[in-house]
Amino acid sequence: MSALFSARADEGMWIPMLIGKNYDEMQRMGLKLTAEDLYSANHSSLKDAIVHFGGGCTGEIISPNGLLITNHHCGYGSIAELSTVENNYLENGFWAKSFDEEIAAPGLSVKFLVRMEDVTNQMLKAGENSPSEEKKKKAMDKVKEELEKKANENGRYSASVTSYFNGNQYILLVYQVFNDVRMVGTPPKSLGKYGGDTDNWMWPRHTADFSMFRVYADKNNNPAPYSKANVPYKPKQFLPVSTQGVKENDFAMVMGYPGRTNRYETSYGVDMAINEVNPSIVKIRDMRLGIMRNYMRKDPAVNLKLASSYARIANYWKYFIGQTEQLKRLRVIDEKQRQEQDFTSWAKATNRDYEDLMNQYARAYTEYRPYAKHNVYYTECFMGSGLARLAAKTNKLHQLLSDRKTKAEEIGKEVAELRKARKEVMKDFVPAAEQEMLARTAELFYKDVPHGQQPDFYQRFIFKQFGNSDWTKTFNDFANYAFLNTFLLDEVKFENFCSDPSLEKLDADPAVQYALSFVNNYEQNYKPRQEQFGKTKESLSQQYIKGLMQKNQGKLFYPDANSTMRITYGTVGGYHPQDAVTYDYYTTIDGLLDKYKPGDEEFDLPQNFLDLCKTKEYGRYANANGELVTCFITNNDITGGNSGSPVINGSGELLGLAFDGNWEAMSGDIAFDKKYKRTIVVDIRFVLWLIDKYGGANNLIGEMKLN
Ligand code: ARG
Repeated sequence: MSALFSARADEGMWIPMLIGKNYDEMQRMGLKLTAEDLYSANHSSLKDAIVHFGGGCTGEIISPNGLLITNHHCGYGSIAELSTVENNYLENGFWAKSFDEEIAAPGLSVKFLVRMEDVTNQMLKAGENSPSEEKKKKAMDKVKEELEKKANENGRYSASVTSYFNGNQYILLVYQVFNDVRMVGTPPKSLGKYGGDTDNWMWPRHTADFSMFRVYADKNNNPAPYSKANVPYKPKQFLPVSTQGVKENDFAMVMGYPGRTNRYETSYGVDMAINEVNPSIVKIRDMRLGIMRNYMRKDPAVNLKLASSYARIANYWKYFIGQTEQLKRLRVIDEKQRQEQDFTSWAKATNRDYEDLMNQYARAYTEYRPYAKHNVYYTECFMGSGLARLAAKTNKLHQLLSDRKTKAEEIGKEVAELRKARKEVMKDFVPAAEQEMLARTAELFYKDVPHGQQPDFYQRFIFKQFGNSDWTKTFNDFANYAFLNTFLLDEVKFENFCSDPSLEKLDADPAVQYALSFVNNYEQNYKPRQEQFGKTKESLSQQYIKGLMQKNQGKLFYPDANSTMRITYGTVGGYHPQDAVTYDYYTTIDGLLDKYKPGDEEFDLPQNFLDLCKTKEYGRYANANGELVTCFITNNDITGGNSGSPVINGSGELLGLAFDGNWEAMSGDIAFDKKYKRTIVVDIRFVLWLIDKYGGANNLIGEMKLN
């Protein structure tokens, strides 16, 4: 067998503060830094160069001037928002040649982790001896609030107490948040999203998935809202960049903000995902994406408006297809069942507290299952319509207006909320597309959700007014009517309503009527079940994890991802995707050019890039064979949220940016598969070459520390 598979696969998203426990192993695998170099609350460490970017991604600081790099798909929303049809940075790319040319990205923020502190004892103690679950939660929330308030230091920091291991551990995280973040550089979408949805979640890959921003601070280096007077932030630490590249079996670690995993999910949960939840999400998104695509293709302005939501919806559309496929292929239900039987046998023999736990899981799932679809269709289908989403926001106002005791100022406040919601929805509102979306989502909900669970508006209004043997027509007619007659979409009528809001006006509005019929049905009949199910599951999994820890004393456990900073370490290396097939661990620019398809939406390339490639001048960015490496893979344990995370060598230098996972391990958030799970990384030398030779932004290269 080749050396390829002697590499260790490394499962585990470890807590930075506790990384000392893994240190010996990391050192054996090639780490040259000390544990304190990775995380320290007292002096600067690698963690000071890593940020939570825009709430859902990771970024890292790579210069003494607050220069930040993350994925292209993480900067995507901001890049699209700053683009116009005339100045289309999403299509054409953007390179600031000086600080002055950098463009503020409103609404974008980054946060640095200042410190972490284990507060498990305080939290669990607060919840002890409570007469009820409700009182327990209240007592714990109170302590949580106190801890956070104290750590905030009067607004200097943002602190949060977060649960790990489903309530078996609590950690206080203290952050510093910066709100003046500016766009610095991005390749055109053709490169930054090369391969589009076809290549998404797949290896081999050739995507230049990076974009650059800069963090700005006030003159004292403190966070401040956007101001022209702000200056580039001076970080406590930044990552030096390696131009040496990677070899098979090299040590590689990733620091970042993985969002969610469900590694302690039971066979019951996997069954529900495979058979109810995932296929529903995929079906609904398929339809929504089809509608969006149609309108995006027709008009570049619409294309820009919808680009970011489209990418977001498509990313997890494909994710759920892959997850279902791999959960089945890897027989994850069988494996989970074996673990559960093993657990129950152990409980019966040694700890009877847990002997009924799996039966309790089974009962909870059986009870909830008939309603699972309703909840998916409510959020994904009903709420998939922009008008429905906006109309649903009138719910609170409707309640306030129905109550004679409501004070005028409460109504005023809610009207302000509605105004805000409308502004948000209208920002990306494409009327023709949205009218079709309303028709098709209303229709699909009716067809797919069990009839006994439907809101009464279908019979009471839609079928009564527009009933027809052709359902497409029925729902088109309804959507047409709703768009013509609602006050929500008309600026003047909306302002009239706001200046004199009344129950009569709300009750006469077809969009409001439609939405509130869904909302009320959901809130009365389905939301309580969903919440109850969530609580039951949470308490069961808290016990399950506690039990597993007792069963496996001495074993190192890592908690599920929860959008807090983690470290994962492993090695560079390829894999066997299927019998007789081997995937190498890196791709090159030649492979990128092989995929080129002129005029294609996903595989077209700009002429100036093709011209540059012809020169084959890779300079110091080439590997020992003279190739320009584009992407490589490692066996690090990452998930969504890690996007943009630095992949770091044993000396603490940046090797590339993690940007995706591979198809064969799409079940990884539920069950880590050592054989298949890989992290896809864009090689930093490809990134540097693009910045330098394609973008001509030597100013940015000059800021970095290249080793
Ligand atoms: N699958 C990647 C992730 O979730 C996002 C890739 C974005 N690219 C794309 N073609 N949609 O981290």
